[in-house]
Amino acid sequence: MEQIRLDKYLADSGIGSRSQVKQYIKKRQVSVNGAFITSGDIKIHPQTDVVQFQGQTIAREPYVYYMLNKPAGSVSATIDNTCPTVLSFIHDTTHSDLFPVGRLDKDTEGLLLITNDGDLAHRLLSPKKHVDKTYYVEVDSEIPKTAISTFALGMNIGEEKSTLPASLELLSSNRAYLTIQEGKFHQVKRMFHGVGCEVTYLKRIRMGSLELDTSLSPGDYRPLTKEELAALSK
Ligand code: URA
Repeated sequence: MEQIRLDKYLADSGIGSRSQVKQYIKKRQVSVNGAFITSGDIKIHPQTDVVQFQGQTIAREPYVYYMLNKPAGSVSATIDNTCPTVLSFIHDTTHSDLFPVGRLDKDTEGLLLITNDGDLAHRLLSPKKHVDKTYYVEVDSEIPKTAISTFALGMNIGEEKSTLPASLELLSSNRAYLTIQEGKFHQVKRMFHGVGCEVTYLKRIRMGSLELDTSLSPGDYRPLTKEELAALSK
């Protein structure tokens, strides 16, 4: 879980400017988990540490959840020297601990959850949970009908284990929806490669119960609704 400097945390929570906060700390008006602190340099866990100012507990930094329609050309990382990161689209200066839940390739578009809730991310990404992910796929040639059973049975994509059963819904000769239960590196591209097709366009449209909001253009985002969050947290 991401840590944050105590003085930044206090200033972000609105009790005063960074320099005012430093004075409060000097005057022993701030405690963390019951112990008075004398330096703002220390780092705290904003979700679990109890921070008090003049005896009043400062509300814990709430978790936030954003649905981003990731544009092609962006990278699923928090920092990158050459490309825009998926976080660069999120205009939230209050939460310094946001991260993307899982990764989409640089050229993949679509649904990416951005949050600071490590537990939820862990649950969604755990290989044991088999959270379904649905992709809209376009490929360079005709998808063989046999791909439906090949994907359903699980296939060898050069890993130790075969892929778990995946469901392919053909939309036309070279367009389909594919639902997979895992998130192996380049999985969709490697599965199609295995049946003789190269992916030319890939977009994630669903992750578990969460569906990409079709009103979001690439690069747009919005907070999850209460209903979406409740369904995802189940
Ligand atoms: N599978 C891929 O090949 N790429 C992605 O970005 C996601 C799934």
